[in-house]
Amino acid sequence: SGSKKGIAFNDVAYIDAFPASDIAYAYNWGSSYSGGSMPSNIEFVPLLWCNSESLTSGWQANAQKYIDAGSTHLMSFNEPDLDSQCNIDPATAAAAYKTYISDMFGGKGIKLGAPAVTNGGGSMGLTWLQNFIEACTDCQIDFVALHWYNPASLASDFQSHVQQANQLTGKPVWVTEYGCTGSTDAEVESFLQTVNPWMDQQSYVERYSYFMATSGDGMLCDSTSELSGIGNAYMQAS
Ligand code: BGC
Repeated sequence: SGSKKGIAFNDVAYIDAFPASDIAYAYNWGSSYSGGSMPSNIEFVPLLWCNSESLTSGWQANAQKYIDAGSTHLMSFNEPDLDSQCNIDPATAAAAYKTYISDMFGGKGIKLGAPAVTNGGGSMGLTWLQNFIEACTDCQIDFVALHWYNPASLASDFQSHVQQANQLTGKPVWVTEYGCTGSTDAEVESFLQTVNPWMDQQSYVERYSYFMATSGDGMLCDSTSELSGIGNAYMQAS
């Protein structure tokens, strides 16, 4: 479809709310999904959330299953720079990435994504990402993945976070979570009308997925599992 848009989901049922032909990919922070199917044009992108045994044990078989079904991308650790998420240092992440991502799936025509960092400052965020890339020598890294949360009024901060990631790493960027905190629906919708077309115009931005396909305040779906106002703005803003 040429669309860069994706769906971040936990429950596959919400995918039905989206016009499938305008969706490039979907992911659920995991290496497999169950409970339903998704339209065949939507690429499910397996993700290895962290380096714990409970996650790495099923990883290779699950990822291979989706590769065999047509997936051409894999993603790695979720917010390694945040205590409450994967929470591992760049050197530990690099060793695990080499084992489970690069050595396991490199050189096979599959595109491999660096761990998805937050927009935190200090040693978090882009600093963590830079340290990871320096530590991951002999690693195949085809794109970097970013998250961003801030008020909707900070569209220019969003744009500079995305741009800096590309400038620092020289790699294509996927924005796999972005969301507006403390903002009205109207503010979020106008934010999306600014940043989505902007991302569509940046050739180094390959894919993006707003947080997230579920119902509730600020989410892409409503209580009847249809697109919310924000969901409609997300899909229309291109
Ligand atoms: C977590 C995922 C979870 C998602 C949506 C993320 O912050 O890391 O495990 O599935 O939120 O609930």
